[in-house]
Amino acid sequence: MDGLKKIVAVLRRIKRGACEWLMRRHMRREVRKAFRYDMQRFLDHAGALHLDRRAAACAEIVMGYHVLEKGLTMPHRRLGFGKGAVRHLIDLIDAFEKRFGGDPQVTHAVAVLRAYREMHSGVPEPMPHLDAFLSAHPDVQAAKEPHVTRSEFFAAKDAPFPAFAASRHVVRHFAAPVPRETIDRAVALALTAPSACNRQPVRVHAICDHSLRDRLFAMQGGSRGFGQDADKVLVVTADLSSVRWSWERNDCYTNGGLFVMNLCYALHHLGVAHCILHWSVSPDVDRAAHEMLGIPDSEIIVQVIACGLPPEEFDVAASPRRAVGEILTWHGGNQV
Ligand SMILES: Cc1cc2nc3c(=O)[nH]c(=O)nc-3n(C[C@H](O)[C@H](O)[C@H](O)COP(=O)(O)O)c2cc1C
Repeated sequence: MDGLKKIVAVLRRIKRGACEWLMRRHMRREVRKAFRYDMQRFLDHAGALHLDRRAAACAEIVMGYHVLEKGLTMPHRRLGFGKGAVRHLIDLIDAFEKRFGGDPQVTHAVAVLRAYREMHSGVPEPMPHLDAFLSAHPDVQAAKEPHVTRSEFFAAKDAPFPAFAASRHVVRHFAAPVPRETIDRAVALALTAPSACNRQPVRVHAICDHSLRDRLFAMQGGSRGFGQDADKVLVVTADLSSVRWSWERNDCYTNGGLFVMNLCYALHHLGVAHCILHWSVSPDVDRAAHEMLGIPDSEIIVQVIACGLPPEEFDVAASPRRAVGEILTWHGGNQV
């Protein structure tokens, strides 16, 4: 009898093992299918590969003016910065206007160029190309990049949500360290973010060592001109171990993104200046950063956030938003 039980137990184990093996094989196939599907859509539509399309051309202009807008509000600003960026942006706007006409974001690009010109009004070096371009757009006023005191910037940190949300901006000016306890409180608040099935895959690595900060920022490239002033760097990751199905292949990014937004609001509420930094890097750079920071391979780096306490006064990039009508599409049903 005992022998029979043992045989049944062994058969059950074999059956379970075979089922798991088949499930894993099925899952691997599904994963390949899902990533192929994503890859095809990326190849078909990513702006990088289709710059002739209106949305992609507009996005390129936004990136172009954003570089200059950042330059206008940077802590260690040197006049004469971004000459190549100015020329490139003018070319992009000219091409866009000829091909597609106007767009509010393109108008803002012109406004940023005018603000750039006004900032350089006392510079003896002539700017004939820029002047000619601006005189062809006489109706566009210079963009206003807010210059604020610390108390003005954080005036709505306890306000009801509409005023609070409108007051949050990334800040690229850091003057003093953020206490560890403040980061603990911000992360505790950020944990109120929702996550799929409440699996909470997000992890935060707080980098306090400034030599690691500098090496990380050299890999990242988006913090030039201000990263060296940041006190702490929060590397937000999401653990792939929590992903259960191939269709959840983007869940680390969706859960991570929601967490990052909540963390930014939490930092703003606590009076911490912070700048979100992309983690759009090559596989080699990603691998090197994992090794350098001791982040497990199972964790996807979602975003990097530079933090510090701000100086008494600083500049903020205007970064105007699209109108609701440009991004909200109603579909059928009761639209009352
Ligand atoms: C995914 C993501 C990546 C970003 N990467 C950078 C970056 O590398 N360097 C930087 O200075 N700002 C970066 N930013 C900040 C944006 O430029 C900024 O959020 C945007 O211009 C809107 O401005 P606001 O946050 O002040 O309203 C990033 C923001 C996001 C959401």
